Amino acid sequence: MSLVRAVRLKTARLLLAGIFLILASVSLGAEDRIHKVQNVFDPHSTPAHGILGIAWIVLAICALIFVVVGSLLVYAIWRFREKRGDQGTEPPQVYGSNQIEMAWTVIPLLIVLVLILVTARTTIEIDEPAFPADALQIQVVGHQWWWEVVYPEQGFITANEIHIPVSSEDDPRPAIIQLASADVAHSFWVPQLGGKRDLLPNHPNRMWIEPEQTGVYWGNCAEFCGTQHANMLIRVVVDTPEEFEAWVLNQQRPPREDPAVAGGRHIFETMTCINCHAVGEKGAQNGFGPDLTHLMTRGTIGAGVGETSRDDLYQWLKDPDSMKPGCYMPDMKLSERQLNKLTDYLTTLK
Ligand code: CUA
Repeated sequence: MSLVRAVRLKTARLLLAGIFLILASVSLGAEDRIHKVQNVFDPHSTPAHGILGIAWIVLAICALIFVVVGSLLVYAIWRFREKRGDQGTEPPQVYGSNQIEMAWTVIPLLIVLVLILVTARTTIEIDEPAFPADALQIQVVGHQWWWEVVYPEQGFITANEIHIPVSSEDDPRPAIIQLASADVAHSFWVPQLGGKRDLLPNHPNRMWIEPEQTGVYWGNCAEFCGTQHANMLIRVVVDTPEEFEAWVLNQQRPPREDPAVAGGRHIFETMTCINCHAVGEKGAQNGFGPDLTHLMTRGTIGAGVGETSRDDLYQWLKDPDSMKPGCYMPDMKLSERQLNKLTDYLTTLK
């Protein structure tokens, strides 16, 4: 085969692979499964409104500057273009104009001053609101590459999915989220609910959200934190107060012990699973891997790379790298029988 032909074939293959990838991502989007696009222009929570307000001001000012500078540039190019009869000599050069220099010093200074003032006002509003004493407290710990979610007052731990009750004017229910990191810097960002806030090792941060509409809000880690940074999705489920109470009650329950899956539970408890994961009182309480006590109440596994379906769980246990390359969930080289039993056990953890 000639070199040219080989190169052409390779290009064609790459093109086909690209088209396939695009189609695959489109079909995933259609399922609403992962990487749901977030819209900062459609806020549904208190701090997000203020952030959008300031974004509009900055965008408007920048658009105005763009139009003014762009128009002047186009005018200058057109007005002083090369004309017939020009001798190719340089036009007269003018140095120094106090008026123009004053204008392009003072106007930008004023613009920057306005931006500083509006930013400071919004930042202060967002940072120091008066929280009610009974506000919901949540701790979120960033890990490579998943989120540990602790409800200290309710006494349980979950992962990758935060539930909070919806807020209304008559019944404001802000959720205060304490942010920490177990390893590297991460950033918590659910665009429709609030701004970004970093999770840093040895430096506790906090933020708050007060959503006014129920539903599922997707977010992502917004600070590059390693190979699977893009697959560190977070879901915030905003419930009605009743749904939230029911969810909390279920999370507080001890794990289900279905005798039909005793074999799978035995595998879970005797192999290395419990070195990283906890199910109720059993297993690692060090938060190295996600708590699985009520795994099946969540929407996803692997921080958004799969669904909590039997098929995805099986594949995850069989070959985690096939779903999330480079993740710290090891391939345990389980037999098909063990895989089936373990999957059956995990699917009972509701
Ligand atoms: Cu965690 Cu990026």
